[in-house]
Amino acid sequence: MRIFLLGFMGTGKSHWGQLWSLAHNVKFVDLDKEIEKESGLSVADIFEKKGEAYFRRAEAAALRSMITYENCIIACGGGAPCFMHNMNWMNDHGRTIFLSAKPAYLFQNIEKEKGKRPLLKDLNEAEMLFFIEQKLKERMPFYSQATVTVNAEELTEGSFEDIVKQLTNHHA
Ligand code: S3P
Repeated sequence: MRIFLLGFMGTGKSHWGQLWSLAHNVKFVDLDKEIEKESGLSVADIFEKKGEAYFRRAEAAALRSMITYENCIIACGGGAPCFMHNMNWMNDHGRTIFLSAKPAYLFQNIEKEKGKRPLLKDLNEAEMLFFIEQKLKERMPFYSQATVTVNAEELTEGSFEDIVKQLTNHHA
């Protein structure tokens, strides 16, 4: 199964993806890391030096290159489902899991390492919370197309087995 983990920045896509892939012995791919490898620049530098449009093209290309892996968990950047028909592509080529969380939870997680996130780096706390609320609303029409939605705030290492059951039932 090719599984795409989706969700806003700070939902723990890379964290859970890594843990679950280790526990189930499948390959793990962090899409942002693939883009960084391919371009030789950090995500923050791509945004700064080449602009968001360039990043979104690189992201779409990196996503489509995932076709080479059959059994894998792929953690996608928070914006990936919302550009370049990526959501349709992921649903056509695998199963999608949306890790849902409330703005306050996301805020807590993002705060610690906001320097890594070009979309947030210039915002103060109040602006950041407002940004999260607005962007999340804007992105929900994409996230809500996921095969399965789970509450990111309640995930554990064992959650993956339940999620896989849901994914399987969904397509039964
Ligand atoms: C982005 C999320 C980031 C990264 C880039 C843009 C977004 O990934 O792809 O900074 O548009 O939400 P994470 O969700 O892994 O932080």
